[in-house]
Amino acid sequence: MIQLFHVSKYYDRRPALSDINLQIEKGEFVLLMGPSGAGKTTLLKLLFGAERPDDGQILVQNRNVARLRPSDIPYLRRTMGIVFQDFRLLPKKNVFENVALPLMVQGASTFETRRKVAEALKAVGIDHKKDHRPATLSAGEQQRVCIARAIVNSPIILLADEPTGNLDPHLASEIIESFKVINARGTTIMVATHNPQVMAQANRRVLMLEQGKLIADPKAGL
Ligand SMILES: Nc1ncnc2c1ncn2[C@@H]1O[C@H](COP(=O)(O)OP(=O)(O)O)[C@@H](O)[C@H]1O
Ligand SMILES: [Mg+2]
Repeated sequence: MIQLFHVSKYYDRRPALSDINLQIEKGEFVLLMGPSGAGKTTLLKLLFGAERPDDGQILVQNRNVARLRPSDIPYLRRTMGIVFQDFRLLPKKNVFENVALPLMVQGASTFETRRKVAEALKAVGIDHKKDHRPATLSAGEQQRVCIARAIVNSPIILLADEPTGNLDPHLASEIIESFKVINARGTTIMVATHNPQVMAQANRRVLMLEQGKLIADPKAGL
């Protein structure tokens, strides 16, 4: 599903990632941990084609994302859902409209849109708020709307960067449970976080980055 071979990425000749080797199977739920500056966000950006590696190979669903033409990147993204720490919801649209956005961009029918949005909202337990505007929701609810928007296209892979970063432990806990539900339906998930609560509660494979190096990965014997 996701494979990295000797991947390095430099910013101003300083390595953000050094010689990363990694394999993630279909259906896994993986946590990418490590302190601030360890390279977590950089790794996610490489996976969705926002950055390119300086060395090595990255295969996502058997496609070499390091060599994708810019015109191929939208196709890659369509198979991925992405969740960021800051919500980036449209304030003047309600929950339904925010989640429907990726479908409307693709020209989905009204019927299809209603069905898929309802399903995504249900998966994260927020279907009862579909007519509300983002500002009237709690931070945890807003983040769940973002997750619903990320999964509305039934992505094969869900990437999340510090999805609990602004949330208190109770709300963070709800987010983690949402990820478990989504994962149980077959979506491969990679969550970057420095929150130990997420690691403890998710109880899944943990990849540990430190200064751009992969220093722990149980599957690779690290
Ligand atoms: N666009 C950028 N330009 C220069 N340096 C960057 C850029 N993005 C990240 N870095 C550097 O790369 C390293 C890894 O950053 P990042 O991947 O954001 O780490 P994390 O997400 O684990 O906090 C840090 O030293 C950071 O300063
Ligand atoms: Mg980061």
